[in-house]
Amino acid sequence: MEYGKEIAKVLITEAEARKRIAELADQINRDYEGKEYTVVVTLRGAVMFFADLFRQLTGNVDCDFIAVSSYGATTSTTGEVKMSKDLSSPIKGKHIIIVEDIIDTGITLSYLKKMFSAREPASLKVCSFLDKPSRREVEIEGDYIGFTIPNEFVVGYGLDYDQKLRNLPDVCVLAPEVYGG
Ligand code: IMP
Ligand code: MG
Repeated sequence: MEYGKEIAKVLITEAEARKRIAELADQINRDYEGKEYTVVVTLRGAVMFFADLFRQLTGNVDCDFIAVSSYGATTSTTGEVKMSKDLSSPIKGKHIIIVEDIIDTGITLSYLKKMFSAREPASLKVCSFLDKPSRREVEIEGDYIGFTIPNEFVVGYGLDYDQKLRNLPDVCVLAPEVYGG
């Protein structure tokens, strides 16, 4: 796919993403065989990844959604996480997999893990489409990771810059000119 000048390059093509998501689904299907579990999706960035993953899960699985944000119109976290929508159902005693778009500083994920742990699920794991370990400020890791990426700001496949460019089919590196980098 050809993009305009706001895109520096394509990092992960749609086809590569699909292939990797199938592998993640296989892994989860094996690990959760015979178990009832819930996938908790973080709005809005993880929605495309979730949609591709969820249709390949074969077990007894349902989904719930939570909305959190830590960004304004910048490319790095404010360090403060806000929840604008909580889960619809209690998770006590349930097996939970958090589905995230990206683990960057780790602040959002550690906030979510802490909050969910307090609700006493049977188990709590994390599946993230992308991981940027070089940016970590909080020591935290995902259990299932799609792609480990370098320290570049990416958009597309659900990921946004200032709520835009989520609709790009590939994972792309945002041109630094766009955010004055
Ligand atoms: P963290 O709290 O710093 O780990 O940031 C997690 C959230 O920041 C993710 O769920 C994304 O919404 C956003 N984020 C982090 N890095 C990127 C990026 O490269 N592109 C788009 N959004 C990002
Ligand atoms: Mg975001």
